[in-house]
Amino acid sequence: MNELRARLERHGQEQLLRFWDELGEPERERLAGEVGEIDLDLIDELVANLLEDEPAAAAAPGEIRPPEAARPGPEDVLAGRGMLAAGEVAVVIVAGGQGTRLGFDGPKGCYPIGPVSDRTLFQIHAEKVVALGRRHGVSVPLYVMTSPQNHAETAAFFDEHGGFGVEKLRLFVQGEMPAVDRSSGRILLAERGGVALSPDGHGGTIRALERSGALAEMADGGIRTIFYLQVDNPLIAIGDPGFLGAHRRAGAEMSSKVVRKTDPAEKVGLVVVRDGRQEMIEYSDLPDELAERRAPDGGLELWAGSIALHLIDVAFARRLAAGGTRLPFHRAVKPVRFVDEHGNAVEPEEPNAVKFEQFIFDALPLAERSLVIETDRATEFEPLKNAAGPASPETVRARLSAVYAAWLEEAGVGVPRGEDGLPAHPVEISPLVALDSAELAGRVGPGLDVTGPVLLS
Ligand code: UTP
Repeated sequence: MNELRARLERHGQEQLLRFWDELGEPERERLAGEVGEIDLDLIDELVANLLEDEPAAAAAPGEIRPPEAARPGPEDVLAGRGMLAAGEVAVVIVAGGQGTRLGFDGPKGCYPIGPVSDRTLFQIHAEKVVALGRRHGVSVPLYVMTSPQNHAETAAFFDEHGGFGVEKLRLFVQGEMPAVDRSSGRILLAERGGVALSPDGHGGTIRALERSGALAEMADGGIRTIFYLQVDNPLIAIGDPGFLGAHRRAGAEMSSKVVRKTDPAEKVGLVVVRDGRQEMIEYSDLPDELAERRAPDGGLELWAGSIALHLIDVAFARRLAAGGTRLPFHRAVKPVRFVDEHGNAVEPEEPNAVKFEQFIFDALPLAERSLVIETDRATEFEPLKNAAGPASPETVRARLSAVYAAWLEEAGVGVPRGEDGLPAHPVEISPLVALDSAELAGRVGPGLDVTGPVLLS
């Protein structure tokens, strides 16, 4: 205890032990454990550099231009299928976030989003992984990143549903970072015997994979490429062979899928090339001048909007982990519940704290080679972020229905549409029935009569 106090005093963080004398033995043990996990040198550095403001990434010098983006060709598709059949691909879904904007009571992956069946995000992703394995005659491993805040609930959910049929399923837990008081930089207590901790951002993925032994397990099992996605977008073509093959054939270490940005104010990260290296600029760091730059054809010059979908080679991830590479931390100013110096719980309405998070895309400039593949927004990008408005349950369900209805039409099935051009009835197709329109065409005939909601599962 004296040692702990001395260590905290050296860093000006002794307030964490303010209520020590009132705590029982188990609470003390927990608090000492939490404090012991905090890298206080790192907190000193982050408080010194990030408490006030973050230097805008885009303000760094250098010439910024758009990346060259390819559309995969038939040879890429063949190469990607070969990678899948050889069992070289694992899927990693990051699901450790707090989903504050959605405001759902539970892990976001448990949100019921299927337009007809209310399938959850986790079920849709897991069924895709199962179907992908069947198609290629392998068992594709699925790794799901949780956080200490939602791990137990996520694990119970997968258990309850038998992992949705995924044979090689493994959950791994990401790290946490303490929140600090916005004006003093002092770490906050969430309760008398507990630090205010929150997940360290999706940039914690590689470290969490390493710490959990998952990276070594992947390498031992012959996995060479990680298909990385966020839990919130159910449209992702998991295991897209064209993307995989193009990445491998280009000798890339980390690749990204992007959509064409048309609205300068759209809230997506931007993939750019600065001085020959690819990187991503988060929308909050993007100066208007860059966002609004026009190409000669009148379109946006910096057009490559990230859909947060990456391929990450296992060897690259291991190199970063072994070299102790630290991705930069970003600041987020948020309201954080805390106990004040009198021990009273305070629920602030205004942002009182700074949280520190890492982003996975900051690994991009560290890759020797990176590839950017363009995809269609209409078929592959509609993430669940908000409770209402854009990127909300309503828009995600509508988009899923629209995509599945188009598959039915490609299979020769007539789908009634309203005056707005949208399907008149919700449509849902389980990934176990078909992963794409071509597969569906082999499963249904034009005889299918659509007179109400359609669920194929
Ligand atoms: P977002 O940054 O959109 O956060 O995460 P969120 O948790 O979904 O929602 P808000 O911002 O609190 O409203 C994008 C993806 O990264 C994962 C999320 O689970 C989501 O899949 N993520 C985010 C993590 O896995 N860990 C983190 O620490 C942060």
